[in-house]
Amino acid sequence: MNDPTPTAQAARRRTFAIISHPDAGKTTLTEKFLLYAGAIQEAGAVKAQAGRRRATSDWMALEQQRGISISSTVLQFDYRDHVVNLLDTPGHRDFSEDTYRVLAAADAAIMVLDSARGVEPQTLKLFEVCRSRRLPVLTFLNKMDRPGLEPLALLDEIEEQIGLRPTPVTWPVGDPGSFRGVIDRRSGGFVRFTRTERGSTAAGEEELDAEQAASELGTAWERALDECALLDEVGAVVDQKSFLAGESTPVFVGSAITNFGVRHLLDAIIDLAPSPAPQLDADENPRPLDSPCSGFVFKVQANMNPAHRDHVAFVRICSGHFERGMTLIHQPTSKPFATKYASSVFGAERMTVEDAWPGDVIGLVNASGLRIGDSLYLDTPVVFPRIPAFPPELIASAHSKDVSRHKQFRRGLEQLEQEGVVQVLHRVNDPQPVLAAVGQMQFEVFAHRMAHEFNAPVEMGSYSQRTVRLTDGPTAEHLKGYTVVQVLERSDGALLAMFESPYFLARMESDHPDWVLTPILTT
Ligand code: G4P
Repeated sequence: MNDPTPTAQAARRRTFAIISHPDAGKTTLTEKFLLYAGAIQEAGAVKAQAGRRRATSDWMALEQQRGISISSTVLQFDYRDHVVNLLDTPGHRDFSEDTYRVLAAADAAIMVLDSARGVEPQTLKLFEVCRSRRLPVLTFLNKMDRPGLEPLALLDEIEEQIGLRPTPVTWPVGDPGSFRGVIDRRSGGFVRFTRTERGSTAAGEEELDAEQAASELGTAWERALDECALLDEVGAVVDQKSFLAGESTPVFVGSAITNFGVRHLLDAIIDLAPSPAPQLDADENPRPLDSPCSGFVFKVQANMNPAHRDHVAFVRICSGHFERGMTLIHQPTSKPFATKYASSVFGAERMTVEDAWPGDVIGLVNASGLRIGDSLYLDTPVVFPRIPAFPPELIASAHSKDVSRHKQFRRGLEQLEQEGVVQVLHRVNDPQPVLAAVGQMQFEVFAHRMAHEFNAPVEMGSYSQRTVRLTDGPTAEHLKGYTVVQVLERSDGALLAMFESPYFLARMESDHPDWVLTPILTT
């Protein structure tokens, strides 16, 4: 029987997200984790299920058209007597703010790199968010089954571009493309993998000691040993303290498609990644894990299931024991919120959640009053910090195609802003909204949902790139005199200065160091 205290339950939990550039192998790896945890019997099932699921929802028709996944999902599975919560970040090419917010609910991240491509732009962007939250990051060098960059060169890239000190735990044996297995640097032994048909079941693993490995692998083994000696020399060994401080990253190598190295990585989630710690409140006081139930909303999604026209708020539990049916207090309004409809959500599929512990994520259905960043608590009040809004990089105008649908247009705009699909901005004395986003796809999702869910088709103007900074009233007054910058107001009252290029921003920053121009990420 497990210890039923929140502290003990938190110690059994690991809550993390995978960050990667599209096509690096995040989906494949996610599925292989499920396979190794015994949550699915055969790989390939998730994709097949996803196909069925997409067909059930109108909204997901857009995903189907584009062949991508827009909605994040939360997967929970058991592994080695632990409960693993994997927060899936949308993996599409066009970036969205959703991905950033998911990281606000994670305690660690796995950075997946395609070994042939190294560090790619989206990995960097996502990593910046991890850095700003000081999230510990594990690195997986994927696709070792194919010719790729030299592993030592990949480590250099990680150090130079990401700024984390790489500390390999496993090291490849065999040339890129003819990958035989890994040295486990902790034991010095060799783990040989054998492929299974389409990687649908766990890869065969055989442990050889150094002597056996030397006689069977010859020069490939010697070369790997030389490289490991080099790593020892530069002190590239796993260091839990600097990993947890977000300064070093334990590195694992493998190939998600053939399952090579997947188990090592999953074990590292349990052995190295941190369990949920007391969450800091807005005044930076920790909320003890054993204090009454509390959590914060990190994602809101309406109409996931058009048949129900519902509104789901995803809440990360931070303290206490959540039991379905309990009444929590919604901190911003001090109103009670009944949790009769709590569920875990995977795509459009739901399962009722009876209870949850720190680190778990629950979906609260019928939660139309809940907004991103809101805190919920039982008995002892708490305010968790707001989730930072990130600087949009694109803006576009939006008009209702049919003026008689003005009411529907307003309702849709308000709802989709609340969900954080786009940011809605206004110029002074201009009722026409300007939409702002991090990625172009946010505009597409906006237009699609306005037409299909709110019956308010929109005409979108072409989008343009901006360098955006948060500003204040006095600086906004100064900026009025310039044509290369516009100040717009967000519905929460924040003033955003939009520069036509980073060049103009840099000039104003150097000419007027006293003006308030903050990159929003750091607020
Ligand atoms: P993503 O979620 O990060 O976007 O990547 P995903 O897992 O969808 O993988 C992208 C492509 O890379 C897929 O090929 C996948 O099969 C392949 N892949 C993933 N891991 C490995 C690996 O370890 N080695 C090799 N060689 N390939 C890998 P695809 O052709 O786009 O799709 P599919 O037809 O294989 O499904």
